[in-house]
Amino acid sequence: MPLELIHISDTHFGPDHSLEIRGANLWERACALVEAINDLPFQPDIIVHTGDVVNDPDLPAYAQAREVLSGLKVPVYYSTGNHDDVAMMREALTLPQHELLVPDSTDKLCYQITHPAADGYELFVLDGKVPPEDGFHGFISREQIEALANRISGDKPVAVFCHYPFSEIGSKWIDEHLLTTNRDEVLAMLKEKAGEQLKGIFSGHLHRGLTLFKNGVLNSGVSSPACEFTAVPAGDFCDFIPGGPIPFNHVTLTPEATWVKAYSIPFKGA
Ligand SMILES: [Fe+2]
Repeated sequence: MPLELIHISDTHFGPDHSLEIRGANLWERACALVEAINDLPFQPDIIVHTGDVVNDPDLPAYAQAREVLSGLKVPVYYSTGNHDDVAMMREALTLPQHELLVPDSTDKLCYQITHPAADGYELFVLDGKVPPEDGFHGFISREQIEALANRISGDKPVAVFCHYPFSEIGSKWIDEHLLTTNRDEVLAMLKEKAGEQLKGIFSGHLHRGLTLFKNGVLNSGVSSPACEFTAVPAGDFCDFIPGGPIPFNHVTLTPEATWVKAYSIPFKGA
């Protein structure tokens, strides 16, 4: 059976309805995201949010996220972004059926999605968050790599979700500052354990839709409903492009293929 999932990311909820980035009201735009997904003429199986659920981690912001995202008609899974806090996510958000891969960890949210619709697939959510003082990149801990290696059977299609991308995108500042720094190590393990069953790595963080194919691995990124970022080839910066449409990706996994259909829904305002 195909698995139909919706990939969203980087909602950056504030503690109330007023937070704006360059004139874009984040609450209004997240509400528009929920409405657009609910208006789809089919029912997806699950939704995966690849992190930066809130803009500054505090419980009122997660309460806003819970209130708005609970309006979605299908279960929502979350990964940890650099703007998130695992303890608060655990307290404020409900994760549907899952199994923790590093159950003793208090600061990493790493798990396998065990929703019945994902039967026949192995879907993993990794936590790449590093201490904020270390920068904006991601790093996958040894415990997560080993747990994942032990979990991959090699018999089922595998998909990995992580806030931080696993491939360079040809944009100098982003490639130096925003990626998973030990991606080559994780990718080597994934290729060894999953082989051709590795159907894709799905990320957020860059506030930009991405389709990258490197060394036989599909990397798919979804932009943010808050705002897009620039990705200049030789740039020493990453700037905001506010006021764009509302993005999400419809991902279909089958044993043979990965289909990613990008949506850009015009934002009509509150
Ligand atoms: Fe981020």
